[in-house]
Amino acid sequence: MSDTTIGWEAEADLVVIGGGVAGLTAARTASLRGLRVLTLSKGGPTDTSTQYAQGGIAVVAPHGDSVDSHVQDTVTAGAGLCDPEAVRSIVEGGRDAVTALTDLGAVFDLGRDGQVSRTREGGHSTRRIIHAGGDATGAEVQRALNAAGMPVLFGAAAVRIVTGADGVQGVVAVSDKGFGVIHTPAVLLATGGFGQLYACSTNPPGATADGIALALRAGATVADLEFVQFHPTVLFTPGGLGRRPLISEAVRGEGATLVDSEGNSVTAGVHPRGDLAPRDVVSRAIAARMQTLGTDHVYLDARAIDGFAGRFPTITASCLEAGIDPRGDLIPVAPAAHYQCGGIVTDTHGRTVVPGLYAAGEAARTGLHGANRLASNSLLEGLVVGERVGTAAVERRGVAARVTEAGPATFPRIDRKALQELMTDHAGVVRDGDGLRGAMLRLLGLLGGTDTTPSTETASVIRDLEDASLTLTARAMLVVATTRTESRGCHTRSDYPDSRDELRRSLPVRLGPDGRPQIVTANAERTGPVPLVTARAS
Ligand code: FAD
Ligand code: SIN
Repeated sequence: MSDTTIGWEAEADLVVIGGGVAGLTAARTASLRGLRVLTLSKGGPTDTSTQYAQGGIAVVAPHGDSVDSHVQDTVTAGAGLCDPEAVRSIVEGGRDAVTALTDLGAVFDLGRDGQVSRTREGGHSTRRIIHAGGDATGAEVQRALNAAGMPVLFGAAAVRIVTGADGVQGVVAVSDKGFGVIHTPAVLLATGGFGQLYACSTNPPGATADGIALALRAGATVADLEFVQFHPTVLFTPGGLGRRPLISEAVRGEGATLVDSEGNSVTAGVHPRGDLAPRDVVSRAIAARMQTLGTDHVYLDARAIDGFAGRFPTITASCLEAGIDPRGDLIPVAPAAHYQCGGIVTDTHGRTVVPGLYAAGEAARTGLHGANRLASNSLLEGLVVGERVGTAAVERRGVAARVTEAGPATFPRIDRKALQELMTDHAGVVRDGDGLRGAMLRLLGLLGGTDTTPSTETASVIRDLEDASLTLTARAMLVVATTRTESRGCHTRSDYPDSRDELRRSLPVRLGPDGRPQIVTANAERTGPVPLVTARAS
């Protein structure tokens, strides 16, 4: 396989790229609406971020809670960049989405009163997070969706979205049968996040920003990429790299506290909600304390939680594997890359500016998260918007779609490890202009010297594609992070510690004619809640 010689062809009304919560929810809905759906997943049935979700799903509780309250908490966490209409629309869809999931067989934990049990996480004003299997919510969501029986082509990766005058015409993909084309008028990008931009992440290995790269190359807009959420409490083990076990925020919701190596509270005096402040606040507090004390981690003290192992079986197992017993030991933790708050710009039905191209889940930027996602709002978004895309895609039925030119299948890329080191060192919890500009120069230098000889084996082709997706996304991210000369949400600049009113807007990015990511200077979005932008990339 040395070029894009096409070895197989297929046809569909909708191609769903991604087998996590957003993709499978959309696939199922579209199929119920009578569309011929083809779903691709480059991994296996559980190689998704969905599988690893712990804390739960944020959904308005029947008593002592309201849509207004959930909207308010979301908008507060989003630090001025949420689209309030999108927030309300998605929050309002929560109960029906969870009902649909339970109808599929998903089982949520019950309390002693027989009602669905709800926990609390950072930034939430009340206990509204429903969960399953204690801390295995994602595994239950994935299980229920997988069991719904949607056919999925596993081990198949999308390479390019092909577009024409009427929008989407098809997808070029690679599978164990080599390169193929799928003729289709509608494509959903439900490819998850970009945690693999960093050396340590809670995300699985496949979280390589493919959706962002596919969307940019197809002419769509991305925004809010600079807002990378670093989860405050990821299990720390010396030298640990790659996917790291999460210690859910729900552990703090049940009473655990953050202490430093001298036994002092990490968050005392930092925020009225203390250890349950929004994630950006807690991650910054931990980073600052680690810097002051010259340590590479702090501790979570969960020893006072009754029945810890029963409530948090997944976390208990991860800790025991690392030689830590949370019932008697402090748990060493440090922040790590967790969630991409921005993504492909869409409306609340997943539509992008490219007719027939949709995005949902972590890959998308609906305006729900703004500058910082509220805990457990992601599964909610995947369920609600996934369902809506499955319905919206009916609008493309009957549009003639034929791929006539497959185009290139290799794209500029740099070595993954080098990229992860750059991003970890210069685009982490706290950044500054010199570091971000230096990272961009280094990236461009590495790009100049990279061997881009096409790989021949399918696994290597996919690995190269992932590296190219990470490379392009890092470039886009560094452009906006450099331009955002302020601190807001989870974008913290040590050289600009305050928020600036004139930057209270998203910075949308598209590919310029030269193939470089550029900030869009006027709001030309058909669907867009993206406010007018006047800043230019340096
Ligand atoms: P994923 O579930 O990541 O699925 C992406 C899919 O796309 C995969 O099937 C992958 O193989 C496929 N794919 C990617 N690229 C390609 C390509 N080029 N071609 C073909 N297929 C491709 N959120 C919450 O709301 N509550 C929580 O408690 C919570 N806990 C979390 C805990 C952890 C450890 C992690 C990592 C995340 C957590 N999140 C949580 C976030 C949430 O799980 C994710 O944001 C969400 O599951 C993403 O779903 P998705 O469908 O968008 O993508
Ligand atoms: C967690 O359980 O702390 C993760 C929840 C989330 O990312 O939404």
